[in-house]
Amino acid sequence: MRLFFALWPPPQTAAALEQWARGCQGRVVPAANIHLTLAFLGEADPQAARKAAARVRGRAHELPLEQARYWKHNRIVWAGPQETPPDLAELVSQLHFHLGTEKFVLEKRPFAAHVTLLRDASPPKAPAALPQVGWPVREFALVSSSRGKYQDVARFALS
Ligand code: 2AM
Repeated sequence: MRLFFALWPPPQTAAALEQWARGCQGRVVPAANIHLTLAFLGEADPQAARKAAARVRGRAHELPLEQARYWKHNRIVWAGPQETPPDLAELVSQLHFHLGTEKFVLEKRPFAAHVTLLRDASPPKAPAALPQVGWPVREFALVSSSRGKYQDVARFALS
């Protein structure tokens, strides 16, 4: 099972982001698939992943979507905060730590908070301003991915 940990936006936020992405050139990520990845596990044991996540003591916070950017190396357009909110950085750090103790080997690249909105994208020329939408972060999810379909395996509350 291909697994990752993610934050899901509220449905209205996802819908507004999908709508915004329609103004750019590329393969638009459907609203139902829009997420922020906290950790990518690949083929992995869900039980070990659950065990690690259950040890995380994260705080509820808000995720501001302040910038839309293009990455040339993987041709995605993404939205994200200007700076990773400290509570999100702490959540990711705890999650990565506990995954490490469960013997997961994660990418060495530092975490970059980004929400992919388009794939196989061209650099946006004059993108519209991002919609002013909120993203309350109250839980995180362990998600399985199979043929482009995502499904929650488990959810973990933040306090
Ligand atoms: P991306 O949006 O930047 O492509 C599910 O595939 C999620 O895991 C995606 O959000 C993807 O990020 C992220 N991810 C991170 N590393 C990955 C990898 N090596 N292969 C596939 N997806 C990866």
